[in-house]
Amino acid sequence: ALSTLPRDMISLADYTPEQIAALVESAADFKDKTKNHGQAFHPDEPLKGKTIGLLFSKRSTRTRVASETSIAYLGGHAMFLGKDDIQLGVNESLRDSAIVISSMVDGLFARVGAHSEITGLAKYSSAPIVNALCDENHPTQILADLLTIWEVFGKRKPEAKTVFDVVRGLNVAWVGDANNIVYEMLSAFPKCGINMNVCTPSKYPIPESVQQMAKSDADKAQSNVSYFTDPVQAVQNADIIVTDTWVSMGQETEKAQRLQDFAGYQVTQQLVDAGKPNKDWIFMHCLPRKPEEVSDEIFYSDRSVVFQEAENRKWTILAAFSALFSKRA
Ligand code: CP
Ligand code: NVA
Repeated sequence: ALSTLPRDMISLADYTPEQIAALVESAADFKDKTKNHGQAFHPDEPLKGKTIGLLFSKRSTRTRVASETSIAYLGGHAMFLGKDDIQLGVNESLRDSAIVISSMVDGLFARVGAHSEITGLAKYSSAPIVNALCDENHPTQILADLLTIWEVFGKRKPEAKTVFDVVRGLNVAWVGDANNIVYEMLSAFPKCGINMNVCTPSKYPIPESVQQMAKSDADKAQSNVSYFTDPVQAVQNADIIVTDTWVSMGQETEKAQRLQDFAGYQVTQQLVDAGKPNKDWIFMHCLPRKPEEVSDEIFYSDRSVVFQEAENRKWTILAAFSALFSKRA
């Protein structure tokens, strides 16, 4: 399935379940080779002589560190292009910048604001584009989440052979904002057979178009997607409770209002006691985390797999770059 991937990765909505699973399996393979068999770099240097542009208009820790180290592993060169370094957005249009930069690099990993910026880059770039986060999607994050879920629940199901054998039928409860992370989960989880309870305040609904896509995927894969406004109801029977910041990058001026709007949404032991998730439930969060959306007690508990999830950004980005950026002659 890896040889059939689309040129770009804007959202996992554009990928088949088999393609998603192949990327997750490839990531697990890189992780195993590196951590258990001492492979510090790719023996074939698939990105040798190639440069990947990292076009970041917003801050990043995980995504940037994972991408620069992955490109080194693949034998290539990473060129960080921060928003204060290049002409884009100040002296030059997105269209012109995309044409020019892509004429000199072999791939672009781009973190932007509006979704239209990532699709605009993809339209005008002659090199493959991977989305490093936009306001609607974060595909490399959700690949890392799938790897983490596969690792954690795979250990409990030793008879399972494929990614699908492990993840199918698991219940994910999202308690938080209607943002890029949950939209991307809704783009990938239902079609992989994962059930989702999505809980957001009524002021922050999931867009109709995202709901329709998730429903159509869920119908085909025989999974379920349900919507809630009460966190206690949403976490019932959950295997995975997941949240994210209530104030995404670019929403800083809305912070005071948002803290009010999300009152009662903090993931706490009290919520868990009231909501009754499944016995072996785990907690996930893409990070960076702020204390208001999850208590320290949960965040630093044995239930929490957030740092494993963060490390898995590296292995999944490595798999995505290996598959998408090595292709070009
Ligand atoms: N999860 C995530 O994308 O983190 P960074 O913003 O640190 O890259
Ligand atoms: N929803 C967050 C995710 C950060 C990785 C944001 O967009 O800022």
